[in-house]
Amino acid sequence: MKGIILAGGSGTRLYPITIAVSKQLLPVYDKPMIYYPLSVLMLAGIKDILFITTPHDQDAFKKLLGDGSHVGCNFEYAVQEEPKGLAEAFTIGQKFIGNDKVALVLGDNIFHGNGLGSLIRSKIDIDGASIFAYPVKDPKRYGVVEFDTNKKAVSIEEKPEKPKSKYAVPGLYFYDNRVVEFAKQVEPSARGEKEISTINQMYLAAGKLEVGVMTRGMSWFDTGTVESLDDATEFIRVLQNRQSTMIGCIEEVAWERGFITKEKFAAAISRYGKSKYGDYLKIIVNDYNAGAEG
Ligand code: DAU
Repeated sequence: MKGIILAGGSGTRLYPITIAVSKQLLPVYDKPMIYYPLSVLMLAGIKDILFITTPHDQDAFKKLLGDGSHVGCNFEYAVQEEPKGLAEAFTIGQKFIGNDKVALVLGDNIFHGNGLGSLIRSKIDIDGASIFAYPVKDPKRYGVVEFDTNKKAVSIEEKPEKPKSKYAVPGLYFYDNRVVEFAKQVEPSARGEKEISTINQMYLAAGKLEVGVMTRGMSWFDTGTVESLDDATEFIRVLQNRQSTMIGCIEEVAWERGFITKEKFAAAISRYGKSKYGDYLKIIVNDYNAGAEG
């Protein structure tokens, strides 16, 4: 399975913060926002990842993430000329996807929780599409999924005026290869965007959409507004400092998933200088060495 991270968009809801800087490179506590969705794809075992950015931000992403070899991955980059909608990920990424299945994660979405790894690894071999539903207070802001009494999805609407349920669709989607053809058929919505919800409606109509409700143990943040960005930062800060483990540490995930050797992991530490992030990586290596000796 291939992975795509959509990290373009105009970020206007965060102006003036995002006038000169890409939203997905802003800090969420101690690391760039993009580390979080990236770590989710890596947690799923996905190594081939395409970053879709605006034309002017691509160099900054390349500087941060390079070719991915330091975390045992293959990173590629593509440009979305204008923010014409999430469904364009699959037309822009058509060549990259080839004949494979593909997972899409939005560059401003953060996921954390018990069992996240096994949940997403179970979607790798999907036939059709697999998305999630997450209960929220303000469903109007999102794609909204409605269930029947048997918990079967019956409708999906993008930012409805009158939401039919409290269940928002988070920005993490798993598709089989049909998504490339479906994406080509998507027409712009009233707000002028090619909506991911339209693709999900197509899979629903074909009887091939699976919707899993994310349980209480799972946390999801969309960091698209100043408040939600601040909430996410606070969440990561509190949890990390309480548990003394990091969320979204891509080198740790790479090592745990067996993408890189201990030597490569140790080499990756040097790029983080005297930062807290670098210190954390050193602790992991030291603990491992102590374990190996003991
Ligand atoms: O966060 C989940 C929600 O994301 C879903 O529930 C909605 O169904 C989905 O449409 C989307 O809604 P948003 O209004 O939050 O999307 P936003 O415009 O904020 O874009 C999400 C990410 O994708 C963000 O990192 C910017 C990037 N993006 C967005 C557009 C429209 C692109 O890279 N290209 C684009 O054309």
